[in-house]
Amino acid sequence: MKFTDLHNHALYACDDGPKSEKDMQSLVDAIYKDNIRHLCLTPHYHPGYFGENSQRADRSFAKLSEYVSEKYPDLKLYRGNELRYNRGCVEWVKEGKCHSINDTNYVLIDFSHNEDGDVIVKGTNSILSAGFIPVLAHVERYRKISSDMDFIRELRENGVIIQVDAQSILGVFGFGSKRCCKRMFMHHLVDVVATDAHGSILRPPSITESYKYIEKHFGKKYAETVCVHNPYAILENRQLGKE
Ligand SMILES: [Fe+2]
Repeated sequence: MKFTDLHNHALYACDDGPKSEKDMQSLVDAIYKDNIRHLCLTPHYHPGYFGENSQRADRSFAKLSEYVSEKYPDLKLYRGNELRYNRGCVEWVKEGKCHSINDTNYVLIDFSHNEDGDVIVKGTNSILSAGFIPVLAHVERYRKISSDMDFIRELRENGVIIQVDAQSILGVFGFGSKRCCKRMFMHHLVDVVATDAHGSILRPPSITESYKYIEKHFGKKYAETVCVHNPYAILENRQLGKE
């Protein structure tokens, strides 16, 4: 099984991902070993948190492209960002300061883990009304909404894409987020699984293991939809299949 990953911090010297070129290469080695063949690099973007990092991301991406073309010619790279929500963030995409996912209509967006539900609704609505489709990062990690399946269902029905982290499914971030993932799968609310990988040792990719877990507990078709077909459809700016 070959995977597409739409959310990771593999580019070095951009955010809280790898600090050196060598660490970036080790993470990409792990990503390749984890059977990922389409990789959209998504450094955090919010000038208030990580500075204006778009030029650093450009440089890291160029270095990574060289490395990959020599070592892993069948691994395809794409550009993206994980935008921290802020009232003006859609303008950042429109002005080309940062990337939507592979420059499609899909925007990977995150909020503070402690954010109120009404801010998440207002924020995702503002992205939708600007003509983009929000891919809400690691929904299981927002403390105030992650147990509320009706709330997540409403977000989804409103057009928000629900993404969960591979390591949350496996319980790496604790029992609470694992249980939320499980409930979201049981209620058929998950659209995309992504690695959110930050390093080869701490927060590694783990998508193959998550795929196996989903396949075992929720069926092969659902596992393929969220780990393979939907992420690839987003890269191609297509509509998603619903489970
Ligand atoms: Fe992330």
